[in-house]
Order: sequence, then structure tokens, then C-alpha cells
Amino acid sequence: MKTTNRSVRALLSALAWSVLASLGFASDSGPRERLLLDFGWRFHLGNEWGVGQNLAKAAQGIGPASVSFSDATWRQLDLPHDWAVELPFDPTADASHGFKALGEAFPQNSVAWYRRTFDLPAADAGRRLWLEFDGAFRDCTVFVNGWFVGHHESGYSSFRYDITDVADCGRRNLVAVRVDASQTEGWFYEGAGIYRHVWLVKTAPLAIAPDGVYVFSRFKDNVPAGPAEIHLQTRLLNTGSARADATVTWQISAPNGKVVATASQPAAVGGATTADLEQIAKVEAPELWSPETPRLYRVVTTVASGGQIVDRMETVFGIRTVAFDADKGFLLNGKPYLLKGTCNHQDHAGVGAALPDRLQYFRIARLKEMGANAYRTAHNAPTPELLEACDRLGMLVMDENRLLGSDALHLRWFEELIRRDRNHPSVAIWSLANEEFTAQGSPSGKRVAATMQELAKRLDPTRPVTCNAAVGNEFAGINEVIEVRGWSYHIGKDNMDAYHAAHPQQPNVGSEQGSTVGTRGIYADDPAKGYVSAYDDHGQTWSNTAEEWLSFFASRPWLSGGFVWTGFDYRGEPTPYGWPCINSHFGILDTCGFPKDNYWYYQSWWTPAPVLHLLPHWNWPGREGQEIDVRALSNCDEVELFLNGRSLGRQTMPRYSELKWKVPYAPGTLSARGYRGGRAVAESARETTGAPASVQLAPDRTVIAADGEDLAVVTVSVADPQGRVVPVAANMISFTLEGPGRILGVGNGDPSCHEPDVFVGSAPVRALPIGGWRWNKIADPYIPNLPEEGVAFDDANWTAFDAGAEHGPLGPRGRGVFRTRFTVTAQDLASPAVELWFGRLDGDGSVYLNGQRIGPAGDPRAASIYDVKTLLHAGENTIAVALANYGPAAGVNKGVALRLQDAPPPAHWSRSVFNGLAQIIVQSSKQHGTFRLTASSPGLSSATISIETSPAALRPAVP
Ligand code: GAL
Repeated sequence: MKTTNRSVRALLSALAWSVLASLGFASDSGPRERLLLDFGWRFHLGNEWGVGQNLAKAAQGIGPASVSFSDATWRQLDLPHDWAVELPFDPTADASHGFKALGEAFPQNSVAWYRRTFDLPAADAGRRLWLEFDGAFRDCTVFVNGWFVGHHESGYSSFRYDITDVADCGRRNLVAVRVDASQTEGWFYEGAGIYRHVWLVKTAPLAIAPDGVYVFSRFKDNVPAGPAEIHLQTRLLNTGSARADATVTWQISAPNGKVVATASQPAAVGGATTADLEQIAKVEAPELWSPETPRLYRVVTTVASGGQIVDRMETVFGIRTVAFDADKGFLLNGKPYLLKGTCNHQDHAGVGAALPDRLQYFRIARLKEMGANAYRTAHNAPTPELLEACDRLGMLVMDENRLLGSDALHLRWFEELIRRDRNHPSVAIWSLANEEFTAQGSPSGKRVAATMQELAKRLDPTRPVTCNAAVGNEFAGINEVIEVRGWSYHIGKDNMDAYHAAHPQQPNVGSEQGSTVGTRGIYADDPAKGYVSAYDDHGQTWSNTAEEWLSFFASRPWLSGGFVWTGFDYRGEPTPYGWPCINSHFGILDTCGFPKDNYWYYQSWWTPAPVLHLLPHWNWPGREGQEIDVRALSNCDEVELFLNGRSLGRQTMPRYSELKWKVPYAPGTLSARGYRGGRAVAESARETTGAPASVQLAPDRTVIAADGEDLAVVTVSVADPQGRVVPVAANMISFTLEGPGRILGVGNGDPSCHEPDVFVGSAPVRALPIGGWRWNKIADPYIPNLPEEGVAFDDANWTAFDAGAEHGPLGPRGRGVFRTRFTVTAQDLASPAVELWFGRLDGDGSVYLNGQRIGPAGDPRAASIYDVKTLLHAGENTIAVALANYGPAAGVNKGVALRLQDAPPPAHWSRSVFNGLAQIIVQSSKQHGTFRLTASSPGLSSATISIETSPAALRPAVP
């Protein structure tokens, strides 16, 4: 039902708002709560229990999917989490995924389980409960309280399940997630696990539907002038069975918090259905969003029904227009705006694909410092928090879908991406796909792209659509229908100019350009080590140097600018090498975000302030008198170079280029002065340093929020006695942290470094075998509390058997009880985790400990494990297992043990610096105070820094 009724706009009044303000919140089914479900998960790597799904019986998840299963000895961790980053490198593994021992060839490393228990208050009965995943890699099966609730293949799209029916209010609940990263979706490092946030959302039965608010602005001719027309669309979802009447009110506030417009509309929503509403409000003299002025508005959507407010939701949006013009290129707010973009994958040093939100801000800020104003989420749906960072810091986004497809599944994922992301002002354009070599030029590719593009237009009339096309002057297939022609490389007159001349109505964008390779601080190719010189000389056969593509685009504004492949290095795709190289060389910044020399090239031509940078470094012992290739990257008119104060000449800087000198090496200071209009405006110097003398630590922030999420990114460097970073240093550094914080990961940007990014301190588990088993037949093991299951029963005359054998002693259709007694000490029970482990329980039945049923027998395909820490007592304990056999043989077999967890090993964090630099990422706990990070290395003076963790409002989270 579409109840759009613009005439109701007359109701737009402060009155509606004041009426709402006088309403109370619904008590038992009150307004929405969105609770973070990141903290306190248990994790296990391994596929011992198969898919976990019971296809025969409901609510009987198998192994970890079952409520009675014990995860007491599993590792505890908080999300986001990427287990691929913890795996070793393996030369036989997939190069494009970074040689991690993951994928089909490594089944033992490719499936993992996550479990989390939580209490739901009794008062939640009657509310709608949703479990939301921002994204997990990949192929997730989700269980709640043993019930299967959903299966989601994509490693990039968000997904949610309505768990209302299977959740138990007033009781403990279990979420179990099986993640299978055996398959890949890309040709780059993709991570593994629940690497984005998880949320528990609670709403009233009548509420705003998931992703049910869409706000967009319109201006006459799509050019901001005068008031903005704000379209307020809301989808209501009524999960109740009766029709509900409601009033929806929207309240828009400006960046300064002042309410600038309201609107209101009555609605009637039938039982178990949705209703779409739309109103238009006017904002006079809006403050426009742009990367330079990231002004954010908010709309609070309130739903009132039955005299109560039943839902209220805040949506952040921006007022701006975007368009692509065939002649003028990209238009932001009606004016030509050059896209200075980078493509990026989502991983970062130390953490893999599991980036805490703050790291998104760190990365976007690095790109902005370079002058970038656009970001392509190559080649997949981003995490919503990346878009939030782009909204707030000011970065346009090409929001890219993973796979071309108009089948129901791929269309649904694409639709969900658009519904989720369409309020973000940063998102300027949708990208259907990347380089679909087979589909690109085909008639079916054309039809599929047209269907997807139509869907995008229906869901979002404000944004253009593109597709990154790896073809030249070819107007066939997708290019025939795509709104904005995306150029993946193929620069040149024969391609771009000829295409533009032949299709003068179609706008263009350089959706992927560059692919220049280089290694930070390296100035000669070294295939053995896997290093590429950082001079801008290395386009690949399909691509171009930074200078080539940027200068070509500079004279063609109709191309809109472009997106460099890539902003940051990423794991995988070690082009042009293979093993031992494990990550890409394409980044302008390395995996840590340390700039390579090309950073200053882009900064020169993407920012107006004077930039002057010299390369290479000036530490070349043994090469005295030999010529060194010296270059200056600058946007000054002229640059003069000096060696130890002596001028080596002043050269005029050609636009979009660089300056070169051949300089006979002599230690000392290589310096340069940049001039504009004849006036010196910039200076730069590279000094020959002494030997490494000290470790230095430089955090990006010294005060962070004590919320268990915030973090500081610390630059680790090795300096000479004068405090200058030694550009060739490779010292190994050890780290210790004391106080309320933790180390998340370490990195150094070395594309061939095989040192671990993380220290995984899993506590070892000791198994104490339990023997002395006897058994006997019984008539009916399903009768509860048989004397044979109790503590006092005398089993002395029963038959002894070996519980470690391959099969149990119970024959076909046999029924029996299996018993033993064992002793535990108080010291055993002091272990943090105490589990009763059965290698295999063949047959159907129950397990009793000291006369108390502790759970069903579990699944005969794998171990049955029970948490018995609070059920055991020091001294003698009794186990009884009652089983009915429906197979050839049954009983207790493959061993029984008590498993005790020992203390975790002491943390050992270390990383070598690469060309003088490394990075360590440290995170707060929820405790405020100060933690100290110390870095030391043999023969060097060590460094200690303090990071204050300040009291902070915690995000609402599931306790
Ligand atoms: C492109 C592709 C990217 C990356 C790049 C390397 O063709 O779209 O994902 O592989 O090449 O140059």
C-alpha cells in the first residue's frame, strides 16, 4: 500500500510536533533500542560439527548450534574479528588472497564458530527482536536457541533476521554463527569471520521497517538555489495481526541542532504488512554538504499510535546534488567538481578486515590529507561505518556492488545495499560491478545491467549509476545502457577521445586508474625480496604511472577525474611478484597508511598549498661518488636542489610531472627549495642519518574514549642519535602494554613480511581421561530420573567396557545406561573452564552428572561437550549416560575426558620496522585511566608513551 499524500502536507505544523511531544512512550513495547552485540563472544576454529543444522527436527541445532553445548574452553573475543589475519602464511596458498592458509585447500582453517549468550528481560515480550549483521565473511548459518534462523552467503552485504519467535524473554539466549570462508568472492584478501558489527534491535510491533527511512533533497534543475525540497519517505512495518493507525512525524534539524522543518502524516497499516509514506518539507537556505563542508542534517522520524510513541529513529543526511555531465564531468551542487579518488579494499595492517570504527576515520583522514575527495569501495558493499566516516569527514563515495546479476538473490543484495546506504550524503554514485570480462560486451550483460540500473533508479532517483568497464572504445553490452561510462584503465586518444566523440551524450568517469606499483622506501627493484622501486616508473601492462593518467585526465574535464588503484596497499595481489611477497604494491600509502613517495605527487596536484618532497632517502653508504636518481615532487613553479648547501640547479616544474637530477652521492644533506612567482614558498631535506640508536613511539592521539572500541594508531620508528628516522632500519621491536588497554595488531608495510600481525594467546586445555566405565541394558532410557542414572546406584555387577574404543557396546535397537565415577580436586575446579568431553555418544538419550540431567547426548558425528564447572564438586562425581540405539552399534566411545583450561601464555608482541617504520594499534578497555605502551629493541634505547582513556558514554550494548 502506498499512502503518499502530499496534500496532507497541510498538516505540516508545529502543532503536530507539540502533540507528539505530549505523548508518552509505550511502556511494554516501547521505542526502538539498537544494542551493539560485539562484546563477549566465544570463538572456535574448526569444522568438527559439520553444518550444525538439523534438517529433520526444529530447534535441534547440532554441536555448537545446540544450547546444551559447552564453549567454556573456546577463546573469548570481541567483534569485529578476522581470523584470516591470525593464520600463518603458506607458499602453497592462494597468492591473490595473500598466501594465507585459508580456503578449500585448508579445510581445518576455513570454518569457524562464534557463540554468544545473553539475557533478554521479560519486559521484551511483545517486542520485535532483530539480529543484524553489518557483514561477515562468509557463508554464515545463524542459530538462535538451537533454531536455524538464516543462511547468508555474501561476505559483504549486511543481513538481519527477525528472531522474535525463537528468542526467550526473561531467560538466557544463545546466538551461534557458523562461518565458512572456504570459498572466495574476490581476487584479493577478504578476511574471515564476523569482521563487522552485530546488533540486537528491539522495536514495537508497529515500527519503522528495517532501512525504512529514506531522505533525499531536490532542487529545481538539480542545482542548489533557494530552498531545498526534502523528500521524507518512511516505510512502516506492522508485525501485529490487526490493522494499526498511526501518525508519522518527521522533524528536521540543521547542523547546528536547530529544528528547521517538520512534517506529519497519518497512516493505516494492515496487519502483517507494510505501508509507504512520503512527505515533502522545505529547508530554506540549506547548508550544502560537500567534502570541504561536510554539513550534516538529521531527521527524527516518530511514529505515534494508540496515544503512544511506538517508534522513533534518527537519520543523518546531507543536502546536496550530484550529477554527471557528458561535457563538464562530475557536478557537485551544480558545479563541476573534479573527482580525486582512490579505490580501496577494506583491510588494514594489524587487524585484517576487522576494522574498529575509529580506524575507518584514520584511513579517510589520511586520504584527505593527500587531497583525495572520493573513495571507491572496491569491489564490494562497504561497512556502514566507513560511510559514516565519509559523511562526517567529507569524502565522496562510489558505492560498489560485488557481483553483476539480475537473478533474485543478486538483485536482493543490490537492493539491500541501496536501501541501507542511500541516506549517506557521501555516496555519490552506485557501481554495479567491476570488470565483468565475459558479461561486459554481451547482450545478456547489457540486459542484466539495465535491470540492475532500473532497480537502482527506482530505489534512488538522485544518484547516477556506473560500472567499472575494462574495455576501450567499445560501445557494446553494458556500455550501451550504463548511465555513466566507467573507465578501467584504457587511457589514450584512440580509446577515450574516440569513445567520447562517438557517444557525446554519455558522461564518463575514471572509475579505476593508475595501478602503479612501488614499495615504501625502496629505490631499486628486488624481485627476490619482492620489492618494487617507489619511483613513479612502474605502470603495469594494462595500466599507467600516476603521471601518465593524471596528466591525460587533467586536460579532459569531461572524464570527471578518477579513482587511483589504490589508496592503501592491501593483502593479496602481490603484482608483479609472487611468494614471498604477500601484499599488493599498488597503494599510494602502505598497509599501515605510511605514505610512499607518490603520496606527494598526488598531494602536489590535488591540493593548492605548496608541496615539496624529495626522493630517495640519503643513506647510501658505499655508493659515494655514484650517481643517484633524485626527484622532486612538487606543485611549485620552480625547484632548486642543493647538496650540502651547494646548488645543483633550479628547474621549472612541468604541470602534473616531476623533476629529475642525477646527483653524485656524498653523505650529508640533500635539500630543495620551491618557488612560486619567484618567491621561496617550500623547503624539503633528506639527511644522511647515523646508526639506529633509539625506538620512538608517536600516537595519533593521546586521549581516547574508555569505551572498549576507541583506539590510537601509534607510529613506531627507529631513530639515530639525533632523533632522525633511519630510513633503512630493520630492527625488531618488542611491545608491552600495562593498564586499561590492549594491543590489537601490528604491521610495518613490508609487502614480504611474514611476521604475525597479531598475538593470539589461546589458553591451553588439559584433558584428564575418565575411565572405569560399566554398562547395562535397560528397558526405556527415556523415563526420566531412573535409579540407574542416580548417584547412589550400585553398578558393581555391570559389564566393564572400554569407552575409548571405536564403537560402543550397544547392539542394534539396544538400550542401555553407561556409568562411571571419577574424582576431581578443588584445584581442578579452580580452572577457568571445566568441561566434560565425550569423543562420541552414539545413540539418542541424555547425559547425567551427579544425578542431574545436563543435556541430550548430542550429535553422533562429533564430540559432545558440556560445561560442568558449577556442577562438579571436589571428590567423587558420577556420570550416567542413557542411550537408545537406532544404528548398528552405540554407546560411549572414542574416549571421555575432563578438560581443564590453563592460564593463557604471557603476551608476546613484536614487529620489525620496515625502512624505519612500523605501526601498533592499541585499543581502550571500558575502564578509564592511563595505559602505558613500551617499545624496546636490543641495543636501542626504548620508548614509553601513556595513553589516557577518558570516561565516555558507552554505546548501548547487549550486556
Ligand atoms: C584491475 C582490478 C583490480 C585490481 C587491479 C590491479 O583490473 O579491477 O581489482 O586487480 O586490476 O591492477
